[in-house]
Amino acid sequence: MSSVPVTYGEASITPRGDYAHCDADYTCAQQWARYTPQEHELFARLYARQMALLPGRACEEFVRALPHLQARSSIPRFDDINVRLKAATDWEIVAVPGLIPEAAFFSLLAARRFPVTVWLRKPEEFDYIVEPDLFHDLFGHVPLLFEPRFADYMQAFGAGGLKAQGQHALQFLARLYWYTVEFGLIRTPQGLRIYGAGILSSGGEVEHSLHSPQTRRVRFDLLRLLRSRYRIDSYQATYFIIDNFQQLFDATAPDFTPLYDQAAALPEIEAGALLPDEVDEKVSAETV
Ligand code: PHE
Ligand code: CO
Repeated sequence: MSSVPVTYGEASITPRGDYAHCDADYTCAQQWARYTPQEHELFARLYARQMALLPGRACEEFVRALPHLQARSSIPRFDDINVRLKAATDWEIVAVPGLIPEAAFFSLLAARRFPVTVWLRKPEEFDYIVEPDLFHDLFGHVPLLFEPRFADYMQAFGAGGLKAQGQHALQFLARLYWYTVEFGLIRTPQGLRIYGAGILSSGGEVEHSLHSPQTRRVRFDLLRLLRSRYRIDSYQATYFIIDNFQQLFDATAPDFTPLYDQAAALPEIEAGALLPDEVDEKVSAETV
């Protein structure tokens, strides 16, 4: 299979990674023995840096599941994680060469299989990487797959994506994924917490998302979210806050067909905009 441009949200890039040795469903072998000692060490440094940022900022469900990865001191074997993940929520992770086409991505999610990129970023990309790599995919996404409600949401998202393909709705689904799975915030009795993988695997956005005064934090509203553009080249200007994972699952369970029509008929909302009736959550003070 050759390397083809893949649309990812609102961007189109030629992904890096070896697409010559994957199957028709884009899965491949992890080839764990090929990781070098330097890569294991880099992975451990990324892990340590993020761990130090998480207390009081990442949601409880994420923090509690993280030890299941057994990824603190080296790159884990996906097969080992799968023994625990299967037992917890009947999900598994599968190796992929990098970004994959949307149809392949949706099919995997619908089958409770989460694609994890096999390659790790270079040392000079420690702070910032353009495409998702092994660290982002594994550290950012896999812990919440141990959370039953969130795990069900991910499967529903995959099924919804397959269904939406004929409906010119992929742009809306990409926004939903972006503002929940990648950049979502969640309200807890202790204050706002992070559940989005794009934030949790980022050195700088953890703090920015919760405390920057320059950013909007608004409550999750599905139609509002579907109309909202997002940024791919900087920290987010808007974050959506859910009350719990049940809310996320329930709000997205109805048939989206009429909602896509509604969203398409209304103007787009720029990243960082605040609507007249909307409340911007105060920057929470308890972990400053
Ligand atoms: N309920 C959506 C539909 O009918 C599917 C979906 C579920 C999409 C969860 C995204 C997330 O299209
Ligand atoms: Co991601």
